[in-house]
Amino acid sequence: MKSVGIDGISIWSGKLSLDLPNVFAPSVGEEPEKYTKGLGLYTCSFPDVREDIVTMGANAAYKLMIKEGIDPRDIGRIDVATESSFDASKPISTYISGCLEQVLGEEFRNVNNGERKFACIAGTQCIDDAHNWILSGRNEGKSALVIATDTALYERGNPGEATQGAGAVAMLIAEDPSIVELSLKQGYSSVDETDFLKPNQQFPSVDGKRSVQVYLSLMKEALTNFEERSEKMDIAEFEFVPFHVPFPGMVRKVASLGYRHMTRGTSIEEELEKIIGPKPEMEEFSGHEEYMEGIRKYMKLLDKTELYQKWYKRVIEPTIEISERAGNWYTGSVHLARASSLIYAAKEKLNLVGKKILVGSYGSGAQAEIHTETVKEGWEGKVKKIDIYEQLDSRRPLSFEEYEQIHDVHNYSKDTLLTDLTEYKNEFVFKGYGKMGERTYEFV
Ligand code: HMG
Repeated sequence: MKSVGIDGISIWSGKLSLDLPNVFAPSVGEEPEKYTKGLGLYTCSFPDVREDIVTMGANAAYKLMIKEGIDPRDIGRIDVATESSFDASKPISTYISGCLEQVLGEEFRNVNNGERKFACIAGTQCIDDAHNWILSGRNEGKSALVIATDTALYERGNPGEATQGAGAVAMLIAEDPSIVELSLKQGYSSVDETDFLKPNQQFPSVDGKRSVQVYLSLMKEALTNFEERSEKMDIAEFEFVPFHVPFPGMVRKVASLGYRHMTRGTSIEEELEKIIGPKPEMEEFSGHEEYMEGIRKYMKLLDKTELYQKWYKRVIEPTIEISERAGNWYTGSVHLARASSLIYAAKEKLNLVGKKILVGSYGSGAQAEIHTETVKEGWEGKVKKIDIYEQLDSRRPLSFEEYEQIHDVHNYSKDTLLTDLTEYKNEFVFKGYGKMGERTYEFV
């Protein structure tokens, strides 16, 4: 069986940043602690005036191709995941490949180009498609470029405004990868849900509180399905567990659920029982509501145990470090979480070769997916090339008034003119509209 996985990663953050506890919270009459303690967010990235999903995706992909020395002739697929598309027919991948052709001096004439949509899980689905294409042999030795790019903006005044962000993650999916190999086994949970959707509208209709519950319940089902299709998971086996990060507080919730799931029937469960008592069972309660309340109390006790806290610090905390400063990048978020843990491991000089990662993706509407990845020889050198922290540090901070203006600039129903807030250099930018109404781009 071929070994297929991620062989290169490059990240592009929107060039502006909004300080959530110190600038946004006081301006909308909220307490900073809602962000620092509740949601776990400090800043989020925003696109400058001439940035959008195409420029961010093309910039991430271009950087990947240059730093990994990828010959465009070795690319056989370009798959773009986004839920922020401005074109219902022409895929964003063609806009991006058009940008790349402007500077690479090669055309992507014989590639399979396409865009995939399923809320935040589409990035993972693009990796799946590339994986299957390579496994089948239809790639004929070529690799796939997967780009997850989004501007996660909510309508002004919507509670979702607290959890925005913008950026792109480009990944090279190849045979004999040098970062991680993907497992063949997967677990799924999929339902027809309306927790978050955009029925022909730019900004989402979202039932935030419900979306949190749907995320948790589908992730639990996907974990169960993964075990049914493979084997009982051993929590000690996983070095990191990156979950989709709409905001880090969500990961706090799903992590304890995952921990409880993976320790079921193990010696850890026995140890926990000695400290916080047995896990509540349905038959001990008079109804479902009472049972759920019992579970909530049990989870609170579990979260406070030293056993859990040590695991969380080692396995989960490194996965949310980028998102705490970048916000939600929708399709890119779970891939930021993987990158965050690998960058942390490289910094801490951890020996990861052969070690496993459990990845939990989620997309509203709704679907959760679980798979594992094995870290491969060469990962450290590749991961050290990811310069996301330098980008986050060099973003231009927004005042609240500038934030309001930049939100309007990216609102399709408004015609707002604003001078660029940053300088563009060696990057793709939006140029204007063409005669067919298409968006056009140039490299500056
Ligand atoms: P909200 O009403 O803005 O915030 O909604 P809240 O009042 O629920 O507070 C948030 C947390 O901060 C709570 O913590 C508060 O207790 C705490 P929790 O109880 O949940 O643990 N808090 C404080 N803590 C300390 N001191 C304080 C304080 N004040 C509050 N003073 C919500 C938050 C996330 C629902 C909202 O921002 C939203 O609707 N966001 C968009 C939807 C979303 O992100 N959903 C996540 C799951 S669905 C998903 O991940 C898919 C998605 O990425 C889209 C896709 O798939 O395409 C969104």
